Amino acid sequence: STGRLWGGRFEGGPSEAMFALSKSTQFDWRLALHDIAGSRAHAGALHAAGLLDDEQARRMDEGLAELARRVSTGEFVADPTDEDVHGALERGLKLIVGDELGGRIRAGRSRNDQIATLIRSYLREEIRLIAQDVDAVVEALSTQAEANLGAVMPGRTHLQSAQPILLSHHLLAHAWPLIRDVQRLRDLDVRLAVSPYGSAALAGTSLGLSPELVAAELGFNSSVPNSIDGTAARDLISEAAFVLAQIGVDLSRLSEDVILWCTAEFGFATLHDSWSTGSSIMPQKKNPDVAELARGKAGRLIGNLAGLLATLKGLPLAYNRDLQEDKEPVFDGIDQLHVLLPAVAGMVATLTFHPDRMAEVAPRGFSLATDIADHLVREGVPFAVAHEVAGESVRYCESRGITLQDLTTEDLPAISAQLDQGVLEVLTVEGSVASRDGRGGTAPVRVAEQLQELRSVASGL
Ligand code: ARG
Repeated sequence: STGRLWGGRFEGGPSEAMFALSKSTQFDWRLALHDIAGSRAHAGALHAAGLLDDEQARRMDEGLAELARRVSTGEFVADPTDEDVHGALERGLKLIVGDELGGRIRAGRSRNDQIATLIRSYLREEIRLIAQDVDAVVEALSTQAEANLGAVMPGRTHLQSAQPILLSHHLLAHAWPLIRDVQRLRDLDVRLAVSPYGSAALAGTSLGLSPELVAAELGFNSSVPNSIDGTAARDLISEAAFVLAQIGVDLSRLSEDVILWCTAEFGFATLHDSWSTGSSIMPQKKNPDVAELARGKAGRLIGNLAGLLATLKGLPLAYNRDLQEDKEPVFDGIDQLHVLLPAVAGMVATLTFHPDRMAEVAPRGFSLATDIADHLVREGVPFAVAHEVAGESVRYCESRGITLQDLTTEDLPAISAQLDQGVLEVLTVEGSVASRDGRGGTAPVRVAEQLQELRSVASGL
């Protein structure tokens, strides 16, 4: 028998180019074991409905188990004549249990509900693994945050010096979005845990088969309430593509920081040899390829999402063959993240930071100006006035080529009558950092507290 599941009403087979276009085994074969699991559950429903007798059900189940074994070992693979994974597996089943029994498996189902179920099963399994890999990056960030507690660095807005912050604070700011990505994956699983099996072509299953039975057997929480939606919807697939893209974007932003930190101009961090590459011509080079590939792959992951949404936007209900295009974008996204996430975790875990250099740069760019204003506010000066005085202090220093930290008692009256001695005490990086002690702030006590909070959220995921 061939791997084609239709033909009765056709005089001949498809033309070669038609077949080449239609064929999907080159990418849907990865769903094979999920398809067999679906068939075993479906055979159970056929048995429960009296459409397979006890003996047939037993042989069918053994045959499907044997088929799964052959697929796992590579003993059975798709043949060039197979149209898709479903046809190939029916062919494989018939080789084991014979054409008569093998030909019974397809009753009351369609490839439309089958494929809609398989992609959900597949994604449920894969996103669990992706979540673990994301968690490893979170772990690398929090370990670095803990190891470097106390180190200061320049905090930036618009990439310009803004206010001094703790390095750990900054590292944890990259960890929180990744925690939310893991939460998104967990949350998505709740929606993925609804089985379309039994929707059949679109109108629902006949023959007294139980979709709930199949759903439970496959580890889903329930079956779809609407069979048309069950076969036609792909919003869960684009939602998965979105979370994959968001993970890529979050890794990309982290990577951009790493790339900057490792330049000679910044000099904040050095990559470990095993997580960087050299140049074929410039002997001195140590390139941040992991970070660059993360940035590059983010574009690809966004493209996968955009492509999938474009595929879906004009589709009438219910199933359309366009839907076959849902798979490669998410498969690619999963594959890319499986190689990228461990590399980013390794890169982060092995970064060496240079606290002295970061401390040296932290007060540059008049990053303590806000501390002058805050000091004056504590002395009872309205903030608008305080802002002006702080600005004048910056202008004063700038014109003399000195920093705010260089100011002495003699300078103060020349800047403003509002400035008292006390301001000189707040004009240190440590003082500035310690003063931002509200929840979420950069004060060392708050950052240490945040690290604990992040760890407890992460361990509860
Ligand atoms: N390969 C198809 C897909 O991925 C499933 C098969 C449904 N094909 C069909 N002609 N009804 O969506």
